[in-house]
Amino acid sequence: GHHVSSQRMRSRRRELRTRHDITSFAPQFISIYESLTPSEEEKEKQKQLLQSLEKLIIKEWPNAQLHLYGSCANSFGASSCDIDVCLAISDGEIDKSKILLRLAEILQSDNLQDVQALTRARVPIVKLKDPATGISCDICINNILAVVNTKLLRNYSQIDHRLRQLVIIVKHWAKSRGVNDTYQGTLSSYAYVLMCIHFLQLRRPAILPCLQEMQPTYMVTVDGIECAFFDQVQKLEHFGSVNRESIAELLWAFFSYWAYHHDYANNVISVRTGGIISKQSKDWTRRIGNDRHLICIEDPFELSHDLGRVVDKFTIKILREEFERAAEIMQYDPNPSVRLFEPY
Ligand code: GTP
Ligand code: MG
Repeated sequence: GHHVSSQRMRSRRRELRTRHDITSFAPQFISIYESLTPSEEEKEKQKQLLQSLEKLIIKEWPNAQLHLYGSCANSFGASSCDIDVCLAISDGEIDKSKILLRLAEILQSDNLQDVQALTRARVPIVKLKDPATGISCDICINNILAVVNTKLLRNYSQIDHRLRQLVIIVKHWAKSRGVNDTYQGTLSSYAYVLMCIHFLQLRRPAILPCLQEMQPTYMVTVDGIECAFFDQVQKLEHFGSVNRESIAELLWAFFSYWAYHHDYANNVISVRTGGIISKQSKDWTRRIGNDRHLICIEDPFELSHDLGRVVDKFTIKILREEFERAAEIMQYDPNPSVRLFEPY
């Protein structure tokens, strides 16, 4: 008796969850999402820090501008995240290291903490911490492409609220599972955002359009790269509403796409085209230098830039195992909203 019933239990547990079943978990995921989003108070503190930095900087470089970029400006930041700032100085040829060192000097004498100039990093920056708010901040110079891609990401998030939910939950999962660290050979937050946008572009009916394939209303040329896209997103606020999928269904489908359906050997995901393109067409079929192209995520503007280039033959396994684990949990686990985020 016991044996039979436990077998029946087991087979029931392994029964495939349906769309309806999975949607019953949506409220749990929504409340996790809500607990992760920054408060108005926090946003206000960030703004104040930016303003005080602006005052300091304008004194030294009257024509300079400060731009926020990264997660504090693209709407995909969780609470207590650091802020990324770009100092735009337009006067022709400049010596970035010299400016960063001078900037560090200025900030230090204004009582900011832990001021540090990292002039030899891939993206040279000054780091600092504001003692009043505890907010940490990285300042880079003339990284205008990052400011523009931040705008693209933010504009996508304004079209359908499910993108922000999906990204914040996926980032939380990636951080909990240790797969959000480019220094360790896993993916950056920026890469995860592109994966989520791409995924929602490919839902049927689509939840997001492809802004770079539409008639452009925003155009800039940065470092010789033409960046053009449709940015009047308030006109697209009902775009995704025909698709009624819940956040729980989307998470389930997102993880199963990356676990079971993505063609790692041949395909590149491309937010720019709103579709899949071939590795062949980009000449990303072999290892060149340190770039391996084992998971291919095209940057929307720097077309030769593969955000997956940091992934190597060991970390691709780790990543894919984590996608499979997440997909399994979404499919079978009685408590997916707990198990998904268990520390590794
Ligand atoms: P968290 O700090 O983890 O909350 O996320 P974030 O959105 O700030 O992302 P991340 O620190 O990965 O990147 C900051 C910004 O740098 C991104 O929003 C992009 O605008 C820009 N960026 C451009 N190219 C790259 C790249 O190759 N790698 C990374 N990491 N960032 C890039
Ligand atoms: Mg950041």
